[in-house]
Amino acid sequence: MVRINPSILAADFVNLERDLKRIASADYVHVDVMDNHFVPNLTFGPQMVGRIQDVSPIPLDVHLMIDDVDRWAPDYAALGAFSVTFHAEATEQPVELARRLRALGARAGLALKPGTSAEPYLDDLAEFDQVLVMTVEPGFGGQSFMAHTMPKLTQVRDAVRSAGVDVWLQVDGGIDASTIVIAREAGADTFVAGSAVFGAEDPAVRIADLRAAATHHRHV
Ligand code: DX5
Ligand code: ZN
Repeated sequence: MVRINPSILAADFVNLERDLKRIASADYVHVDVMDNHFVPNLTFGPQMVGRIQDVSPIPLDVHLMIDDVDRWAPDYAALGAFSVTFHAEATEQPVELARRLRALGARAGLALKPGTSAEPYLDDLAEFDQVLVMTVEPGFGGQSFMAHTMPKLTQVRDAVRSAGVDVWLQVDGGIDASTIVIAREAGADTFVAGSAVFGAEDPAVRIADLRAAATHHRHV
């Protein structure tokens, strides 16, 4: 199972409804929320995400790059996001927060920056629906894929398998038709792509190409 989640960070913010229609063949729309504190960049908050939720043809995969997730993350679950992913670095109580998100009907995701070890979370994987292994430093689109994050991805994949739990493994940052193959072979099943999708002449064709590249890899 391969999921392609275009990131609207690379879309035209004043033509979002149009750009959302262009990616209707994708699985989920990846919505990057940034607060200019957790990362040195600013996007949008709950009001804007609520409107995206109203008009999007596909469900929302919200990626919170913000501080104080214990205060803010439940709002995104409450507005109807399919999944809400917060950073491990932004809370002392990831399991408690994940439980709150699930109680509000959202899937709960845990994100790890490139320098953050997965180790402390491997015994709690059943508490999460998704783990996001960042393949760039969060904050900006258009950066290069960091291949050194792949052993961590495989470590999480192996822990998910041995625990026998159903946790999606997402990668985000620098994903294109070649790096998607590397991430797939390392264990990812859910792929965020911003510039690769919205930089294409036809985003629907690029989504299909990415899906094909991830699907036809040699299974390991
Ligand atoms: C980066 C964001 C990503 C970003 C990816 O901090 O979390 O979702 O949009 O953009 P690309 O695919 O261009 O690297
Ligand atoms: Zn993201």
